[in-house]
Amino acid sequence: MNTQPIKLCARTDIPEGEMIEMSVPGTDNSLLLVSTKGAIRAFQNKCPHMDIPLCQGAFDGEVITCTEHLWQFDAQTGAGIEPEDAKLQQYPVSVIGDEVFVELPEAAE
Ligand code: FES
Repeated sequence: MNTQPIKLCARTDIPEGEMIEMSVPGTDNSLLLVSTKGAIRAFQNKCPHMDIPLCQGAFDGEVITCTEHLWQFDAQTGAGIEPEDAKLQQYPVSVIGDEVFVELPEAAE
């Protein structure tokens, strides 16, 4: 089990209102990082519908939209907007100086 914060990237790698895919060092996994309303959020990168990478979708600064069947998620919480019963796994993020760290309870999905 890994609860140590993992350094992912520089804060400036994620401009406000954008999202990027970021590999988790030492794994084959990736996370979706979004910069929204002045904060960085980290979510699973796989759509909970059919595992399509969410980084291929769209982000308007507030809503993440999957490219495949247009499911939508709140970029603050990962809560499903359409459908409402969907949800993205969110991981705690900390920004120290210009560096972005994420805490993963175990290997990310
Ligand atoms: S795979 Fe994302 S909405 Fe279907």
